[in-house]
Amino acid sequence: MDQQPHEVIWTVTNAIVPSSCLHVVAELGVADHIGDQPIPVKELAARCGADPDSLDRVLRLLSTYGIFADRSGAYGHTEPSRLLGSDHPMSMRALSRMMGLPVFSAAFAQLDHCVRTGSPSLEQVAPEGLWPYLQSHPREAAIFGQAMTAKAAADVAAVLGAYGFGRFGTIADIGGGRGHLLRAILDVVPTAEGILFELPDVVATLHIDSERLTAQAGDFFVDPLPAADAYILMEVIHDWADAEAAAILRAIRRAAPADAAVLIIEGVVIEDQTDPRVQTLDVLMLAVTGGRERSPSQLSKLLESAGLRPSTVIETSGAMRIVEATAV
Ligand SMILES: C[S@@+](CC[C@H](N)C(=O)[O-])C[C@H]1O[C@@H](n2cnc3c(N)ncnc32)[C@H](O)[C@@H]1O
Repeated sequence: MDQQPHEVIWTVTNAIVPSSCLHVVAELGVADHIGDQPIPVKELAARCGADPDSLDRVLRLLSTYGIFADRSGAYGHTEPSRLLGSDHPMSMRALSRMMGLPVFSAAFAQLDHCVRTGSPSLEQVAPEGLWPYLQSHPREAAIFGQAMTAKAAADVAAVLGAYGFGRFGTIADIGGGRGHLLRAILDVVPTAEGILFELPDVVATLHIDSERLTAQAGDFFVDPLPAADAYILMEVIHDWADAEAAAILRAIRRAAPADAAVLIIEGVVIEDQTDPRVQTLDVLMLAVTGGRERSPSQLSKLLESAGLRPSTVIETSGAMRIVEATAV
């Protein structure tokens, strides 16, 4: 139902309330303590070490969004609340935990800093920047890594459905996190080999269980990248301002054989977009990394500046688009 104007403002102003409830519930692991039947809130609170009245009120609010079912003093699962379970194959628990980490919430509490200065507010909390911060905070880094896998679960399926990777022999995933996209591609292309290029601290946490997958530790601003038939960059270019984004693409151009494909996979700003996910990620980048979501023409300019020839923008069934380019 359409909201009245004052309701729109009220809802957006107070959006921090339900989102904070979700972060806490994810952190406490509440979903893991609910089985097939609703469970009385007192028992649930005891299982997750929470105050029963407070937990009841938090869950009662979330249930109005369809997250948990309120059964008069007992709570059961709904389809969305099941996604907060740690063992759900599409679990989004880590994503909610990540957004609740003090370093992220403090950055958002100081969003005015970005708007006044143009610099990411995360620097007010972690002056070294996000990636060095994560390197020196292993607990947060583990949650961040799980969150990237969590947010990617649906995106990976959408990317595989939209693009044929079968023509590539070697695929390099640059800044590929824990390799969720690359592993999924190798599963559907049994003839391909994959190289995951990531920061040494991330590579040190990886368990490589396929002979067709290798991990190369390095810094894409400093170290040479591997040679490959295709380079994938999922939500990497959007982490950086133009100068750094262009430097990553130039590093790929230096390593790439002629005609190699370069695929930027992330949200693309299209005019008249009504789905707020890309704009949400854009402001997230503004606050946290200093990067941005870009339009097709902004991405084309970046690619061309690095000696890459942009060709098409491919839609997926999710919020991501695939911007394809070729090394010339
Ligand atoms: C937003 S995450 C995206 C991860 C993955 N591609 C995905 O979509 O889930 C960005 C990744 O870039 C990696 N990264 C950041 N700086 C890097 C650098 N200088 N060299 C290599 N990787 C880097 C981070 O460790 C992180 O895993």
